[in-house]
Amino acid sequence: MYLSSLLLFLSLGALVKCAAGSDWCYHGCPQSPDHWAEHSGVSCGEKRQSPIDIVTGNVQIDHHLLNFTFVNFSSQHAIKSIENNGHTVKCKLEANQVEVSGGGLNGTYSTIQFHFHWGNTEYHPGAEHTIDGHRYPMEMHIVSLKKGFSVQNATEDSEGIAVLGFFINGTDDGDMSGPWSELTSYLTNTTDTEVDMNNTISIDDLIGNVDLTKFYRYMGSLTTPQCNEAVVWTVFQQPININKNLVQRFPMKTGFTNVYRPTQPLNGRDVFASPTTPLPSSHSWCYEEEPCEYKPSYWHNLPHSNCGGERQSPINIETLDTVTDEHLGAFTFTKFDDKHAIKHITNTGHSVKCVLKEDMVEVSGGGLGYVYSTLQFHFHWGSNKSDGSEHKVDSKRYPMEMHIVNKRKDLTLAEALETPNGLAVLGFLIEEKIAHGRSSSEHLETHPTSDMEAWKKMTSYIPAIHNISSEVNVTDEISIDDLLGGVNRAEYYRYNGSLTTPSCDEAVVWTVFKESVKVDQNLIMMFPTHAGYHNVYRPKQSLHNRKVYTTKSASSAPGPIILLLLLPCLCASSHNLHL
Ligand SMILES: *[C@@H]1O[C@H](CO)[C@@H](O)[C@H](O)[C@H]1NC(C)=O
Ligand SMILES: *[C@@H]1O[C@H](CO)[C@@H](O)[C@H](O)[C@H]1NC(C)=O
Ligand SMILES: *[C@@H]1O[C@H](CO)[C@@H](O)[C@H](O)[C@H]1NC(C)=O
Ligand SMILES: *[C@@H]1O[C@H](CO)[C@@H](O)[C@H](O)[C@H]1NC(C)=O
Ligand SMILES: *[C@@H]1O[C@H](CO)[C@@H](O)[C@H](O)[C@H]1NC(C)=O
Ligand SMILES: *[C@@H]1O[C@H](CO)[C@@H](O)[C@H](O)[C@H]1NC(C)=O
Ligand SMILES: *[C@@H]1O[C@H](CO)[C@@H](O)[C@H](O)[C@H]1NC(C)=O
Ligand SMILES: *[C@@H]1O[C@H](CO)[C@@H](O)[C@H](O)[C@H]1NC(C)=O
Ligand SMILES: *[C@@H]1O[C@H](CO)[C@@H](O)[C@H](O)[C@H]1NC(C)=O
Ligand SMILES: *[C@@H]1O[C@H](CO)[C@@H](O)[C@H](O)[C@H]1NC(C)=O
Ligand SMILES: *[C@@H]1O[C@H](CO)[C@@H](O)[C@H](O)[C@H]1NC(C)=O
Repeated sequence: MYLSSLLLFLSLGALVKCAAGSDWCYHGCPQSPDHWAEHSGVSCGEKRQSPIDIVTGNVQIDHHLLNFTFVNFSSQHAIKSIENNGHTVKCKLEANQVEVSGGGLNGTYSTIQFHFHWGNTEYHPGAEHTIDGHRYPMEMHIVSLKKGFSVQNATEDSEGIAVLGFFINGTDDGDMSGPWSELTSYLTNTTDTEVDMNNTISIDDLIGNVDLTKFYRYMGSLTTPQCNEAVVWTVFQQPININKNLVQRFPMKTGFTNVYRPTQPLNGRDVFASPTTPLPSSHSWCYEEEPCEYKPSYWHNLPHSNCGGERQSPINIETLDTVTDEHLGAFTFTKFDDKHAIKHITNTGHSVKCVLKEDMVEVSGGGLGYVYSTLQFHFHWGSNKSDGSEHKVDSKRYPMEMHIVNKRKDLTLAEALETPNGLAVLGFLIEEKIAHGRSSSEHLETHPTSDMEAWKKMTSYIPAIHNISSEVNVTDEISIDDLLGGVNRAEYYRYNGSLTTPSCDEAVVWTVFKESVKVDQNLIMMFPTHAGYHNVYRPKQSLHNRKVYTTKSASSAPGPIILLLLLPCLCASSHNLHL
C-alpha cells in the first residue's frame, strides 16, 4: 500500500519533470545520455561537448599554460555543505572565498562547488574523461564561474565556467582515516538534503600531492544537461590516489552507479597541455636512427595506429608503372603569394613545421574535387651525408621533401582524418641548387628557382626553435610562392595514401610534383645542423594494389607493355618540354 503509492508518486514526479525537459539520468530512464540532445534549448548534441578521450599523441604543448594561483583552497572553512542531489554528490563552497586564476585562464574565476563521477561497486571505473582510452575509477570536478558572473551569465559565455577535473585512482593500500575518509563519511542515499560540513577538511587536503603544473586544456561543455558549451576544461594528468575501499563507498552509500557521461567526439578541437606535462605516446615513436620504444617498423603497435594499413605513405614512384589520368589538371592556389600567411614556426621533435593563419590559404583544382584549406607545411631531411626525402622516384631519394598539408574545407580536422580524401598533401622534392657555373645559370633563366632570400629568412628561425616544442612567431615577409619559386606545378604524380607519421591515418590524397625545388646546400644543412636531429623520414611503404597516376604531359609511359605504341606521343611531349 505505502510502497505502491510511493512508486506512483515517484513516477508522477518523473513524468512532470520529463514534460518540463529537465529530468534526465545516466541509465535506466528514457532520458539517458543518447537522448539528452533531443530537447530543444539544450546543447547536448552540439560540437563542443564534454567529456572527451584525451589522445596524448595528439596533444600539443601550449607555453601559455603556466602555474595556477589558488585562493583559499587550503582553508578548512571553505567547504560549506554536502548534498546528494540525485545525480551526484556535491559539496558547496562558502560564497566569494575560493578563487582560481592563472593556468592560462583568462582572468579570475570564483569557485562555487565540487562534485564527483563514479562507476559501480564491482570497481567498474566511472571517470568522465579518459586518457588514451583508459578510464580511472572516479573523477572530481571543481567548478568555478568567471568572477562577477551569475550562473546564468556564465552558462551563456563561451569561457564563463572553468572546471578543474581530477582523476581519482583506487589503490590497494592507503589512508583509511584521512580527509577522504572524512568526506565519504557524509555520503548518504537521502537525496536533496544539504548537510553542513564540519570545517575539518580543505580542498587541498582532498587534492593531496597531485602535481598541479601538469594538466590538459580544451574548450568543452558541462557534462550534464543542458550541456552548455561554456567550459574551459582543465584535466590534471596525475590522479589523486585513495584507498579503493573509499572509492567503493560512493556507489555503496549513495545507491547510484556509473554516474558518468560517455566521451563525446572532438570535432576538430585542439587539446593542449602545460609545458611540464609528459606526453608519452607522441615521444615514444621515432625514426630509424633514434633510440625509442617504437621505431618505424613498430609504429603499427602504437595506440590508435593505422600504420599497418594497405594504403600507407611514402612510396617509391616507379615512373614506368604510372598511369596517365586526363583529369589531373591545373591547381588553383589561393593566397600562396601572401607574405603574412605564416603564423609561427615550431620544432615538433620530429620536424620543423610552419603553421599558417587559419582560413586564409587554399588549394583546389588539380583533380582534387574539393576546396582544401592549407593548414601547415613541414620538412623531412637527411643528415649531411645522406638524403632525406620521403618519396622516392625510380628509387632515387632526394636531399629533402616539403609537405604542404591541406584539409577539406567542408570537414573538421577530426572528420578529415577519418575520410579517405579528407586531407590533400602537396609533396615537393628538394635538391641542392648548383650555385655557380655557366650551364646552370642558363638553366636558371628559363626555369627560375625559388627565392633564396625567402629560404634564408625561413631557415634563420631554426636555431631559435632548437628546443623541442618551442615555437617563434614569423615576422619576416615570406610567402609559400617565394619558397616554391618557379617550380613546375602542372606536372605531378597522384596516389591515395596516408600521413607519414603516427597515427598514419589513411586520409591523404597525395600529390608529388615531378620537378624538384632547388635550394642552396648551406640552407638545406640548416635543418640537420640546428633542429637537433636528422634522417627524419619514414621508410618506403608497399604499394599493395594501388596505382600511381600522372598528369597527361608526363614524359613517362603508362606502362612498359604499350611503351612502343606510345613512342610517337612521347617524342611529341618531350618536344613540348623544350618549348
Ligand atoms: C610553478 O610551480 C612549480 C611547483 O609548484 C614551481 O617549481 C615553479 O617554480 C613554478 N613556476 C612558476 C613560473 O611560478
Ligand atoms: C579566504 O577565506 C577567508 C575566510 O576563511 C576570508 O576572510 C578571505 O577573504 C578569503 N580570501 C579571499 C581572497 O577571498
Ligand atoms: C578575456 O576576458 C575578457 C572579459 O571577459 C574578454 O573581453 C576577452 O576577450 C577575453 N580574452 C580572451 C583572449 O579570450
Ligand atoms: C549578466 O546578464 C545580465 C542579463 O542578461 C546582464 O544585464 C548583465 O550585464 C550580465 N553581466 C555580465 C557580467 O555579463
Ligand atoms: C593507480 O592505482 C594502481 C593500483 O594501486 C597503481 O598500480 C597505479 O600505478 C596507479 N596509477 C597512477 C597513475 O598513479
Ligand atoms: C538507504 O540506506 C540505508 C542505510 O544506509 C538503508 O537502510 C536504506 O534501505 C537505503 N534506502 C534506499 C532507498 O536504498
Ligand atoms: C561534526 O562535529 C561535531 C562536533 O565536533 C560532532 O558532534 C559531529 O559528529 C560531527 N559530524 C560529523 C558528520 O562528523
Ligand atoms: C657532418 O656531420 C658530422 C657528424 O655527423 C659532423 O662532424 C660534421 O661537422 C658535419 N659537417 C658539416 C659540414 O656540417
Ligand atoms: C632551451 O632550453 C634550455 C633549458 O631548458 C634553456 O636554458 C634555453 O633558454 C632554451 N632555449 C631557447 C632558445 O628557448
Ligand atoms: C605571437 O603572436 C601572437 C599573436 O599572433 C601573440 O599573441 C604572441 O604574444 C606572439 N608571441 C611572441 C613571443 O611574440
Ligand atoms: C582514391 O580512392 C578513391 C576511392 O577509393 C578512388 O575513387 C580514386 O580513384 C583513388 N584515387 C587514386 C589516385 O588512386
